[in-house]
Amino acid sequence: MNREKILVIDFGGQYNQLVARRVRECNVYCEIYSYKTDLEKIREMKPKGIILTGGPNSCYEEGAAACDPALFELGIPILGLCYGAQLMMHTLGGHVCIAPVREYGKIEVTVDRSSRLFGDVSEKTICWMSHNDYIETAAPGFETIAYTPDCPVAAAQWEERQLYAIQFHPEVLHTVEGTKMLSNFVYQVCGCSGDWRMDAFVENSIRSIRERVGSGKALCALSGGVDSSVAAVMMAKAVGDQLTCVFVDHGLLRKNEGDEVEEVFGPNGPYHLNFIRVNAQERFYEKLKGVEEPEKKRKIIGEEFIRVFEEQAKKIGAVDFLVQGTIYPDVVESGLGGESAVIKSHHNVGGLPDYVDFKEIIEPLRDLFKDEVRKAGLELGIPEKLVYRQPFPGPGLGIRIVGEVTAEKVRMVQEADAIYREEIAKAGLDRSIGQYFAALTNMRSVGVMGDERTYDYAVALRAVNTIDFMTAETAEIPFEVLVKVMNRVINEVKGINRVLYDLTSKPPGTIEFE
Ligand code: XMP
Repeated sequence: MNREKILVIDFGGQYNQLVARRVRECNVYCEIYSYKTDLEKIREMKPKGIILTGGPNSCYEEGAAACDPALFELGIPILGLCYGAQLMMHTLGGHVCIAPVREYGKIEVTVDRSSRLFGDVSEKTICWMSHNDYIETAAPGFETIAYTPDCPVAAAQWEERQLYAIQFHPEVLHTVEGTKMLSNFVYQVCGCSGDWRMDAFVENSIRSIRERVGSGKALCALSGGVDSSVAAVMMAKAVGDQLTCVFVDHGLLRKNEGDEVEEVFGPNGPYHLNFIRVNAQERFYEKLKGVEEPEKKRKIIGEEFIRVFEEQAKKIGAVDFLVQGTIYPDVVESGLGGESAVIKSHHNVGGLPDYVDFKEIIEPLRDLFKDEVRKAGLELGIPEKLVYRQPFPGPGLGIRIVGEVTAEKVRMVQEADAIYREEIAKAGLDRSIGQYFAALTNMRSVGVMGDERTYDYAVALRAVNTIDFMTAETAEIPFEVLVKVMNRVINEVKGINRVLYDLTSKPPGTIEFE
C-alpha cells in the first residue's frame, strides 16, 4: 500500500522505538531501520522525512556509528535527535566535543518560535537532556534555534535544505512539548497529511488477508492475551470459519480467564471461528511437580505447550496458514528492524515451528506497536476488558509462584490477584499503572486468625510503571488501597496470612516475581 512514511534511522539509542511510536501517534506511519541501511534502499522507500535517533557513541571517534553523508543531499527533510543531531553537525562541518557541563534531566530550553519546528511551542519549555557531548558550533548554513545556559546549540536548522537538529529528546514524555515538536516536523516540515489511521489499517488488513487466504485454512494459537486475540479476530473477520483457534488452558491463567476467553471466542461468542479449548491443567501441574528453579519451570511450560498444541494440530491436519501475533517491537528487537537489534531472539519471529504442517505464516499485527494493537482491537469491536488486559507472560502464574507450582498455590495466587485487580480498578488506577499483579512467595510464617495460630504463605503485590518494559519504576499506590487489598486477601484467601508490597525497581529487580 502506498502510505506516506517517515523513516527512523536507528543509531542504537535507548528511546528509538519511542520516536517511532510518537510519530505514529501523530497519525503518520513510521518504520525503524538501522543506520547501516543502504542509501539506495532509503531513497527507494520514498520517505516523507527521516529522523536520526540518539545513540551511545561520540560521533567524532573512530568507528562511531555514521550515515552516508549523501543522506543529507537527498532533498528529504531530516531531523537529528541527540546523537543524530551531533552527527548531522559533525558531518556537515560543525564542531562537536565533550561538553564542559554534562546535561542530564529536565532542563529549561529557550526556543526560537519563528522556526517551523517550534511555532506553537512555549518560548521557555522543559526538555529532557541526556548527553556528554554537545554541539559547540553549528555547521555552516545552520542557524541556532534553541539554547540553554550550558548548551549554546540546543537546536539548529538549515531551513532551505530542511535539515533540523535537536540536542534533547522530544520523544520522551519529560519533554513537555515534545509531541508538538515531532508533529511540527512531520506536518509543517515534511508536509505529511496524516493517513495512518487505525480504522483504515484494520479495513485494509482484512481485505488483504481475505485475498491472501482465498479458500485456504488457517490455524491460530490463542492465548487470551491482547496480541493473539486481536490477530484472531482480524483473521475471523476476514475468513470466518476457515480459521481454527486453539486455546490451551495450562491452568496457569488468571482467575476465570479461561472461561472469559471461551465466552468471547467460543461457540456462543460473536465470532464465527472454529474454537478448540484444551483443558490441559493437570498435565502441566504434573510436569511441574517438585520443580523449583524458575528457568526450568519456564522451559517445562513452554515445551508442554508445544506438545499440547502439536497434538491438536495433528488432529486438524495440514493447514495453509499459521497465524502469529508478532508485533512491531518483536520485529525490531529480533534485529530485523533497527539497531537496538538482537536484544532477544524472539520466539515469534524468524524461527518457524516445525511441529505444525503449514505452508505460510501470516502475521497481521507485524507493523503495529502495542498501543496500536489495542486501538485495532477496539476498532474490531473486541471488548475493552480484553483489549486493556494487563501484559501477561506466556508461562503465566507459573512464574508468579516462587518455588514449586501446585494447584493449591495457583488457587491462592489467582484469588489474591483477582482481589488486587478489583481494588485497583475500583480506585480508578487500572489504566494508569503499567503492570500490576500478585505473586505468591514461598515464605510461610506465623500469624493469628481469631484465636488460632496460622502458618501460612505471604503474597507479594507488585505494581510498576514502565515505558518499554526494559526498565521500570515502582508505582506509588495510595496506602489506603494497599490496606484494603491486604484486609480482603487475608480474610478471603485461605492459606495466606501476610501481604507484602514489592518496592523494587527494574533494574535491579525484574518486573515478574519468580
Ligand atoms: P521481566 O520480568 O523480564 O518482564 O522484567 C518484562 C516484561 O515481559 C513480560 N514477560 C514475559 N512475557 N513470556 C512473555 O510473553 C515470558 O516468558 C515473559 N517473561 C516476562 C513481563 O510480564 C513484563 O511485562
